[in-house]
This record gives sequence, C-alpha cells and structure tokens, in this order.
Amino acid sequence: MYKEKILNILRASRSGFLSGEALARKIGVSRTMVWKHIKSLERDGFGIDAVPSQGYRIVSEPDILRQSEIKAGLKTRVIGKEIHLYPQISSTNTRAMEMASDNAPAGTVVIAETQTSGKGRLGRKWISPKGNLYFSVILRPDIPLYRAPLITLMGAVAVVSAIRKECQVNAVIKWPNDVLLSGKKVCGLLTEMSAEQDRIRHIVLGIGVDVNMDPASLPADVRMVTTSLMSETNKEINRTALLQEILRELDHWYQVFLHDSADVLKAWEKLTMTIGCRIAVSGAGEVLEGSAQGVDREGRLIVKLDDGTTRTVAAGDVTIVKR
Ligand code: BTN
Repeated sequence: MYKEKILNILRASRSGFLSGEALARKIGVSRTMVWKHIKSLERDGFGIDAVPSQGYRIVSEPDILRQSEIKAGLKTRVIGKEIHLYPQISSTNTRAMEMASDNAPAGTVVIAETQTSGKGRLGRKWISPKGNLYFSVILRPDIPLYRAPLITLMGAVAVVSAIRKECQVNAVIKWPNDVLLSGKKVCGLLTEMSAEQDRIRHIVLGIGVDVNMDPASLPADVRMVTTSLMSETNKEINRTALLQEILRELDHWYQVFLHDSADVLKAWEKLTMTIGCRIAVSGAGEVLEGSAQGVDREGRLIVKLDDGTTRTVAAGDVTIVKR
C-alpha cells in the first residue's frame, strides 16, 4: 500500500518537510501519485502541511481506525484475513453473526468505532462510546459443542497477553471472561454461536476494550466498576497497535486451542486472579459462596463450598469476597 508507505515515511521525519519528489523516489511512484495519496490522507483526517518549495509534513493525526493501517504488517495466519470497519453499527457481534451466516470466511473481523446496541453478557448492554475498541471475530472450529465455551477463555488469554505487551500493565482475568486492571473491568468478551445437533456452524467472539475513554463519562453504576487503559496508564493508547497485537495473539492462541485446549487452560490459570480467592458466584437462580479451586477441562469454575462439597459452575457472575 503506497498510502501506508507515504504515511510511515512522513511519520518518521516529523521534524522536517519531505518533498514530493523525495517521497516519489523513495517508494517508486510518480509525484502526481504522491499528491493523490496525500489528498486521501487529508480526507482521512490527517493534518498535512504542504509548502511549495519544501514539501509535506504531518502536523496532526486523527484518532480513527483505518482498515489499511490495521492490515499493514499484521502477518496473521487466519485472524484478520478479511477486515470490515464501520464508523457506527448496532453491534459488531450481530453484524458478524449475519456475515457468518452468509458464508464469510473464518478469521473475518468486524470492527466499529461506536455501537448503538452493544451487547454484554447475560443480556446486558455494552455502552460503546468513541475511543475504545469494539470488534468481533468469526471462527469455524471443527470441535465438539462442549468445547465451545473454551473459545471465550482463549480470547481472554489473548487479550490479556496483548494488553500486557502493549501497555505494560498487569491486566488479569476474572472468571469467566472479564479483564481487570486495578480491580476494575477494562474488557469484556461475548461469544455467540450457531450450531446444529453436535456440529458448530460458526462462533463469533466479540471483544470490547475500554481504551481511551474517560470512565467519568459513564453512568454512575457502571463507572464504579469500570476503568480504561488510558486512565490506568495516564497516556493515550495507540488503538491500532493494540488491536493488531490482540489479533496476533488471537491468531496464536486459536492455533494452540485447536491443537490442545489444555495448553490454553494452563495459560488461563496463570493469568487469572480468581483461583484461590474466596468468591460468591451467582447464576442459575442461586448464589454459591466458597473458594475458587480452578477450572475443569470445559472451562467451568470449580468451587469448594464451606461444607466441603465441590460444585462446578458453567455461567455466572463472580464477586471476590476475599483475596
Ligand atoms: C461482557 O458483558 O463482559 C461482554 C461484553 C462484550 C462487548 C463486545 S463489544 C464488541 C462485541 N459486540 C457486542 O455487541 N458485544 C461485544
């Protein structure tokens, strides 16, 4: 992509101007071509100074996601081979489920800058203002149905690994699939599936990461339990770089999962803060209190109750009673 090349060259020489001729020579296109790409970058929202005798220089960058930039240098095997980016959509999960029914290939990623009806777990809403990441990945694993819940755990491992790498913060997983920073939620994952009898048609893994949002803008009840990467690190996060890293980690962990899900569970257990805690878990109309022992091979939480008996929980909300 010449446009991406021009952008990267201009970014690297921020201090000074670069002439159209020099740019044209560097990437092997005509000066008219360079000019056309500069105009296109301006339409994307980049502020570019163009001074006749000196050339071009970037003065400001928009905080928007661009499909070509996300794809550039991604180098994944399956995830992100096809990317669809929307300024606004009802829900990336809903769109990805529709696309999957229309035979979109495995690894297709649907991204939106904002969602008008973002979906959370257990029928909740996912508030989706600008500045964060909202995306869904279409998967078509050839696995028995009972292994499908492990896809969400695999997703949490990928997201936490990427956040740790990109932002140098100690993100952890709370069972089943919340990502926490300083005890507050920074990311949620929602898996939806289409299946017939014991065969999976497709799975959509939806991921929402609170990146550059100010949690103060959220309604009071959500604000108390939510944080963002920007408010934890005190700096604006490059959303494109973070998204690319998450897609790379997903690409890696999805292959690990297909090969042997025990390895995903081992990684999940290393990254979770739930195991060993005294917890209350609500779900299926009851609240259980006890100590979280681990997860079984289907990703269900194993809880040891005070009477010494053990229960496994497939879905629910965990509250940490004591660490
Ligand atoms: C949760 O409740 O923790 C799950 C939240 C999942 C939100 C993401 S945002 C992208 C994708 N599209 C949706 O509508 N939901 C998921």
